Parts: sequence; C-alpha cells; structure tokens
Amino acid sequence: MVTSVLPRVESLASSGIQSIPKEYIRPQEELTSIGNVFEEEKKEEGPQVPTIDLTEIESEDKEVRERCQQELKKAAMEWGVMHLVNHGISEELMDRVRKVGQKFFELPVEEKEKYANDQSSGNVQGYGSKLANNASGQLEWEDYFFHLIFPEDKRDLSIWPKIPSEYTEVTSEYARQLRGLASKILSALSICLGLEEGRLEKEVGGVEELLLQLKINYYPKCPQPELALGVEAHTDISALTFILHNMVPGLQLFYQAKWVTAKCVPNSIIMHIGDTIEILSNGKFKSILHRGLVNKEKVRISWAVFCEPPKDKIILKPLPETVSETEPPLFPPRTFAQHIEHKLFRKTQDNLSN
Ligand code: OGA
Ligand code: NI
Repeated sequence: MVTSVLPRVESLASSGIQSIPKEYIRPQEELTSIGNVFEEEKKEEGPQVPTIDLTEIESEDKEVRERCQQELKKAAMEWGVMHLVNHGISEELMDRVRKVGQKFFELPVEEKEKYANDQSSGNVQGYGSKLANNASGQLEWEDYFFHLIFPEDKRDLSIWPKIPSEYTEVTSEYARQLRGLASKILSALSICLGLEEGRLEKEVGGVEELLLQLKINYYPKCPQPELALGVEAHTDISALTFILHNMVPGLQLFYQAKWVTAKCVPNSIIMHIGDTIEILSNGKFKSILHRGLVNKEKVRISWAVFCEPPKDKIILKPLPETVSETEPPLFPPRTFAQHIEHKLFRKTQDNLSN
C-alpha cells in the first residue's frame, strides 16, 4: 500500500508558507460560503444559536422544572445545538481542562508524535490528523488528540498525555462531571418525549456502555483561511456532544439554509444533539449540520466530548412511542457501526457523482 506522509497541519502552518497545499482547498461551490470568522461572529442580525439556562433543570418545583425542560425541548427540536449555561460544571474545572490540553499541544510536534495514532491498524486513539479518504484527497486544517475518557474501566491510560502531569487527573474529573450532565440532559429529553425519565439513558447504553470520547481539535493559524475548513460540514453521529473551546470563534451551524456563526459565550458548554438521539426520537430532536472555520490570527482549540452508544450491541431505531400513523419511522434500524458505514457509503456516492 502506498502511504504518503503528510506533515501535521501545525508543522505546515509554522513553516511560513503563504499559500496552502491544494489538498486543503475546498471545492469551488463551497468557497463562496466561507467568510472571515471574526466578521461573521460580530453579525447580530438573523437567527442565533439558543442559550439554555439549566439552573432549574432539577428544581423541586414542578412548574419551574417544566419551564426549563420546555426551553431545552424547543432548542433541541428547532436547532439541535445550544449554549448551555449554569450547567453545574465549575469555571475552574473548565479552565483546568483547557489549560492541560493547551499545554500538551504546546509541546514540540516531535514530542506529540510519540502519541501518534495508527488509523491503518485501527488504533484511532492518540495524536492524529485526517487522512484523505477519497479521490479528491480533501484534508482539514487541524490536528487532534482523540481518546476514550469514560467509563473509567474502558480507558487506556497508557496512551493519555503524560505531559502536563495533571492531564489525567483533570480530564478524568471533567469526564465524571460531564457524564453526570449527560444523564440530566437525557432524563429531561426523555420527559420531553413523554417517556419515562431513564429511558433515553437506557436506550444509549446506560452507565456501563455509553462511551465518552474526547477529541481535542487543534486548529493552527491558516494563511488562507477563506480557502480551507478546520472541520468539514457534518452531523455528529453521537447521542450528545459537549464542546468547550478557547473563546476563538469557528463553529458554524447550517440553519434555515444559511451558515450561522456561533458566538463565544463565557462559561458555556455547547451541546449538540447527535444522530443517535435524532434517530431514537424519530427526528423530533435534530442533529444539525455544522463545520469549523479557521483564521489567520489566532490558534483555535476545542474540546469535543462525544457520548456514543456501543458499536454493535444496540439497534438504533425510532422508539415506538415516537412513531404513529401520521409520523412513520424516518430511519431504518441500524447499529451504531452500521450507521457509520451508511454515512461513509453515502459520502462516497456523493463524491462519485460529482
Ligand atoms: C467536531 C466538531 C467543532 C468545533 O469535532 O465534531 O464539530 O467547534 N467540532 O471544533
Ligand atoms: Ni461535530
């Protein structure tokens, strides 16, 4: 097999090139929608990503609690993405998560390479960059670090960053707290669908089987940001995704046929409804198309935690309670692994017809 060794995007970015290699240039049709992210973030007109205050999500007062659930429901149905505030995870812990991740990425590339993943042999955990998976050879302007962070007995601590030394402790604590937050959200979403409180949690694998995977996305400065994307347009396959970032804008959502740039909301966690919940809810909750822009001036880092069902153990399909004569099932039964396969296949077909 021929494997071309492509440099890390960070190395490319720091080499002083003024124009980016062609593999990073988006197709012509896509270029027209890529603007300057700082200008885009300032725009106040048009729809904006909703902000959901979770203070009352577990209130003893039924009326107060239901008001909060309704806000969450509306955002999950209309957008499938939102800024969560007062989510219960301390500012201090979020700052520490950002600090240890940033410190790891500040190591020289050669140091980080010691943690390199090997996608060809199925080792997806570790330091990596996207490999071209189709004829166009299209690449993304980012490097990343990917690893499983929960449940604790499924972690492989040997591949976690050893520098900085607090990385494991801080990231583990964040994982535990996010797992708690995921449960609260799944309960509220269950109630919003008229299900028993614990239903969605159970349907995605429960405490034992729901996997939390952390992807630290590192987007270097880009000399031609209007030609590239940090992450190409996609929907997340997860049940839920939680994202922290370093307050540099980049995330865009495809809402009502336009790209909307997410504002940077202090102390918030961005939450996506992923394909898994979209399927279980028979499309009532949306998995929104999104992408990441890059820029010339500032490195952007984001910490995305994907909460995923087990690959083969569960068959995902619209729950019977979400289906009726007027609301037929919108998705065929598939395991998570089959869902991923199906998406890849569709993408390959798209590319063939272009
Ligand atoms: C992702 C993603 C967006 C971001 O990693 O799936 O959509 O803000 N990231 O980095
Ligand atoms: Ni995503």
